[in-house]
Amino acid sequence: MALFLLKSTPPDHLADAPGGAGLLADPATPAGAQMLDRGKAVFADTCARCHSSKAPPPPASLNLQHCAGPNYLACFMRYWKWTQTDEFKTQMREVVKAPDFLEGNYLSSDARIPATLLRTNVCSPLATNALRGNIWDNFSSESYKTLPSVGTVTLNDPFTGERWQYRMPAGGRGYTRVPSLISVWSTAPFLLNNALGPFSEDPSVASRVKVFDASIEQLLWPDKRVHDDILGAKVPGTIDRTTERSQITVPEGFVPDALKPLQGFMHRYAPWLVGAGGDVTIGPAPKQMPVNLLANIQPLPETSDVGAKAEHAAKVVGLAVKLRSDLASVPEGASDADLGKTYANLVKPMLELSKCPDFIVNRGHYFGTAEFNNQAGLSADEQSFGQEPVLSDDDKRALIAFLKTF
Ligand code: HEC
Repeated sequence: MALFLLKSTPPDHLADAPGGAGLLADPATPAGAQMLDRGKAVFADTCARCHSSKAPPPPASLNLQHCAGPNYLACFMRYWKWTQTDEFKTQMREVVKAPDFLEGNYLSSDARIPATLLRTNVCSPLATNALRGNIWDNFSSESYKTLPSVGTVTLNDPFTGERWQYRMPAGGRGYTRVPSLISVWSTAPFLLNNALGPFSEDPSVASRVKVFDASIEQLLWPDKRVHDDILGAKVPGTIDRTTERSQITVPEGFVPDALKPLQGFMHRYAPWLVGAGGDVTIGPAPKQMPVNLLANIQPLPETSDVGAKAEHAAKVVGLAVKLRSDLASVPEGASDADLGKTYANLVKPMLELSKCPDFIVNRGHYFGTAEFNNQAGLSADEQSFGQEPVLSDDDKRALIAFLKTF
């Protein structure tokens, strides 16, 4: 099985792709060679501590022996601080400069990166499937299940843009493993949700490189990222919004068991929400509603504790009642703007039941950019990673030239 998988995953180098060689810096020319050398140094200083499986051995004083599980975050912080030292950077540059650096390099440390450092959308790291007692329990490790909380992250209200702080849960969630950068020229748009950069249906080499160029620019120059139509620069990116008035219907068969005993009651109380057949409908929601506000409502509690279950069910009913009374006050034939105002008041109770209250899909991963150091208003946990040197535009161009050779 391992051999089969390896057979299907060798790097696809741009140099070997049709027309690819002409798109790379040429190491045979002095300008090309200089560019690539600079790119290597930048990669060593800024990126390789996460995106390389070849690295200098950490000094024994970092005490990285017993890091799985509850000690992980403290260990990671010691590692991170070490990678900020000249001692690390000097050794890492030597590793990256070696002619065989890319050979057999997975281009990831495979480490779990806390959301407080990464600052990308937290919905994927908040996924629940692999938690203890959940559907994929048997596929996740004990060290995953005993991970500590990464601490508090800063999120934005999807109606006002205002910042607020959210405490991430412990027990596995809150971390993202470093993806490999092998053949990264071909895999944009970027990030787990593919939200960073444009999408193209054209699979040609020229198109893949065009999409890579646009996406890597957005990664390294956060100003170039798409910003929300409504909130603009008040939020650090874009929010997925509905394009027309919409509602979500959960057919009766899919209504979670925990809600079933309530269905008769809810149908009597909120017939617009729960039909006589037992279907549950959320809406109508106006055009430009944040999709995740509707889609992430969590009718089921994440616990087997009876008290907590009852508390959750009470919140769901409370929200249903509030939705009903607030939406009932909106006149027949109300405009999307009127409906939108009503929802703005419902945000708090809806967020309390949200599986993931983060709406900005293309934020974060600010390594090497000035935005990394723009930490005013962030939580103490987010600030604890300190400040980083900012790359110049030329550094970034050289880095991109080197990344294209992966
Ligand atoms: C602290 C660890 C860390 C550092 C430092 C880091 N990265 Fe990453 N990188 C990650 C993680 C984790 C992800 C996945 C983030 C996500 O999808 O939310 C990622 C994602 C990426 C992606 C997108 C990959 C894909 O297929 O979607 C690219 C490209 C990338 N990093 C390049 C870089 C470059 C270039 C640098 C240096 C300027 C860098 N990274 C520094 C951890 C790091």
